[in-house]
This record gives sequence, C-alpha cells and structure tokens, in this order.
Amino acid sequence: MYDGDIASVLITEQQIKDKVAELAKQVDEDYQRGGDLLLVGVLKGAVMFMTDFARALPQPAQLEFMAVSSYGSSTSSSGVVRILKDLDRDIAGKNVLIVEDIIDSGLTLSWLLKNLRSRNPASLEVCTLLRKPDAVQVDVPVRYVGFDIPNEFVVGYGLDYAERYRDLPYIGTLDPKVYTSGV
Ligand code: PRP
Ligand code: MN
Ligand code: MG
Repeated sequence: MYDGDIASVLITEQQIKDKVAELAKQVDEDYQRGGDLLLVGVLKGAVMFMTDFARALPQPAQLEFMAVSSYGSSTSSSGVVRILKDLDRDIAGKNVLIVEDIIDSGLTLSWLLKNLRSRNPASLEVCTLLRKPDAVQVDVPVRYVGFDIPNEFVVGYGLDYAERYRDLPYIGTLDPKVYTSGV
C-alpha cells in the first residue's frame, strides 16, 4: 500500500494499540463519577484514535464529533480555524474530553479549547495520541499524551497528506519526495 511513499515506520500498529489501552486505563481511573464521559473527536484526523479509544475505555462514553480545519497548506497549519461541522448537542454540565490525533503548532487545539470552554462543560480535558515539539510554544493544557514525536511530517492512523494515507494502520514518516514533487 502506498509503495515507496513511506520513508519509515515511526509507530507500529502494536505500539498504537498498547498506548491506546494505556491512555484508556488512565482516563478510566480519572473519571470515576459524574455520568457518561463525552468524547469529542476532531474530524477527520482523530477518527481512528477516537473509535479505538472509545472501545478500549472500560466505562461508558458518548461520542460526538466536530470537524474543524485550518486554512492554508496541507503540511503546516496557519492558526485560522473554521468549523466545518459543529457539535450536535449542548455540552453544558458534561465532562468533555477532546480526542485529537496530533498537536502540531497547537493552534487548532488552542482555538477549540476556547470555543468549547465558552459552552460551559463541567470539565474539559484533552487526549491526544501524538504531540510535536512546537506544541509547547502555545500554552495549551493537555492532560493525556500518547507519544511525543520529532518534528517530521507523519501520516497514517487518521493523519493525512492531501487527504491520503489516513487508512494506514500505523504511523509513518512521509518521504519528502511526495510533497516536493508537486501534488
Ligand atoms: C490536523 C490534525 C490536528 C491539527 C493539528 O488537522 O489532525 O487536528 O491539524 O495542527 P496544529 O496543532 O498545528 O493546529 P487538519 O486541520 O489537517 O484536518 P484533518 O484532521 O481533517 O486532517
Ligand atoms: Mn485534525
Ligand atoms: Mg489534515
């Protein structure tokens, strides 16, 4: 699949699976009361992580999705975020956990936290599978982080380049030839 486009496998399918279970256990321990947890998955990148995470979580959770997209090129984000699909429900009084695939510049999440906080949830935390080094520059409180990864362009397990590679079961680095040859 995608022959030659992936330079190296950064995180294997098994490593993802183990990490998802570990994060789910942590979250389960932290949320022991207050009704069903409300997971807010950020489309489209978080979709694989969201569904695996929800199934690994040993307690009931309800699933909601938001689709946001940052303007600009597909390999870097600009911080200008627009809502493509809003939540279907009121989250006031709910324990909300944002589920993200990756925090890169942190700008998407910073915007999202501000937006969701204004809707008065009982609590609001973030669970991300991946985090890049630049994310620390923006002051976003992230309670659950799967892997801190180097500043390389990664794809797979929900993460795309120009909408491709989301369906890979692992996370790999993209061969630069893919995005320098002009898609
Ligand atoms: C990607 C990724 C995160 C965000 C991280 O989403 O899934 O949501 O960028 O970048 P940032 O921390 O620099 O803001 P993208 O906007 O590409 O949409 P997608 O999830 O549909 O691919
Ligand atoms: Mn995304
Ligand atoms: Mg993307």
